[in-house]
Amino acid sequence: MDNNLLVPEQEPDRQYYYMDEMKKLVLEKSREAGRTLTYNVTTFGCQMNAHDSEKLKGILEACGFEETGEEDGADFVLLNTCTIRENANTRLYGHLGQLKAIKRGRPDMVIALCGCMMQEPHVIEAIKNKYRHVDVVFGTFNIYKLAELLYKYYVNRERVIEVLETHAGAVEALPQKRKFGFKAGVNIMYGCNNFCTYCIVPYVRGRETSRTPEEIMNEVRLLVKSGVKEIMLLGQNVNSYGIAGGDIGGFTGMSFPELIKMVAEEPGVERLRFMTSHPKDLSDELIEVIRTHENICRHIHLPVQSGSNDVLKKMNRRYTKESYLALVDRIRKAVPDISLTTDIIVGFPGETEEDFLDTLDVVERVKYDQAFTFIYSKRTGTPAASYEDQVDEAVIKDRFDRLLDKVNTIAHREMKRFEGRVCDVLVEEKNRQEEGLVTGRTSENVTVHFKEEASLIGSTVKVLMKEAKGFYYMGERVD
Ligand code: 5AD
Ligand code: SF4
Repeated sequence: MDNNLLVPEQEPDRQYYYMDEMKKLVLEKSREAGRTLTYNVTTFGCQMNAHDSEKLKGILEACGFEETGEEDGADFVLLNTCTIRENANTRLYGHLGQLKAIKRGRPDMVIALCGCMMQEPHVIEAIKNKYRHVDVVFGTFNIYKLAELLYKYYVNRERVIEVLETHAGAVEALPQKRKFGFKAGVNIMYGCNNFCTYCIVPYVRGRETSRTPEEIMNEVRLLVKSGVKEIMLLGQNVNSYGIAGGDIGGFTGMSFPELIKMVAEEPGVERLRFMTSHPKDLSDELIEVIRTHENICRHIHLPVQSGSNDVLKKMNRRYTKESYLALVDRIRKAVPDISLTTDIIVGFPGETEEDFLDTLDVVERVKYDQAFTFIYSKRTGTPAASYEDQVDEAVIKDRFDRLLDKVNTIAHREMKRFEGRVCDVLVEEKNRQEEGLVTGRTSENVTVHFKEEASLIGSTVKVLMKEAKGFYYMGERVD
């Protein structure tokens, strides 16, 4: 089919061509079936994957499929995988086992896999040999090609596996189907150069490459025009935006503080968030831009991973407990009420009780509003996987429980500081448990439930933060 002279060589035109071709094909099949063919996408993992799934759904809709919430009834099933911890892999294989049974009864069902796990050669081997009911496989560097890969599969009815080893230049300007109309993620950079010794991300998402400010601003403007109020700038390490990656076709020459300032000053950007920040790269310049721009949300996710200098060194984090705490002080001095959240790993190889106590100490001093706690997971191919002094499971479990206890006690106590205050709240959805309530978020990313009509979803209103209930609030609209 690639010999066809009608197929454009340039992207994204080529993908739009395949979306049109797929649309004809799906229409024909839908006519035969007497109903529109459906798709279901399941997303695992982080914000990056969630955002990728919005792009994948956009392409599937442009191909003529209709979304269904039921995976077992869908004509096309796509799993966007994560591989940050080992149990994600185990769960995927379990999931594929269930799909196999379903497909036995519905042989026309097409099953596709993508995302970070697909970048691991041993996973591809397993799928090739043991999971023959998987029809289409692609990785993190070619999600934009979904329509082309699907077309190839539907025309030839032969398995399509295409996983690239590096970034071939991200293709943008493709359709997206966003979960929320009023908030959207915008990728500013891809990949990670940090090589923390426990982490598989640099191996599955490749080297850092930044998008140009023009591309980013064009996307931001289009989003604002379509009614988006809140924008989340996305990258594995947003603070190194515009620094590396020139050699692999990425943009260099503008810093993250300069970029975020430009986005914040764009008319119509009501709220701006960013994710994720590496503490070693968070500059005073960025703190100053946050301080002087009210629409940049008062929340920074600042993964600490460990409070012990020995462990941080073995993790290759390139900061110390002292420099992290000093950074937190500078942030808090500039923006006193800011909400800080973090990620912590327990049981990194060689972690002693003393190291762990240093982690508890950091939690106590920083007073995080929320901390995501993880048990260290050995990832094949990372340097830490070959470290010999792996910590005993029972010891890890004990530390994990103690950490969780501390994190929750502190977070619940800190949460109370908003009680009695009136906050600007962006209404996000109907309350999932109770009729008549809606759920929204403050600039600090605090969730609040209050009585209001669902017609307010997407608007910002003033809410009295009446009562802190652990991690969330019950409130009352006051404007
Ligand atoms: N084991 C446990 N947690 C991990 N993370 C990354 N790699 C691992 C691993 N091998 C955690 C880190 C990171 C978050 C996204 O996942 O805390 O910040
Ligand atoms: Fe992984 Fe470290 Fe890169 Fe974060 S900064 S993605 S933890 S290697």
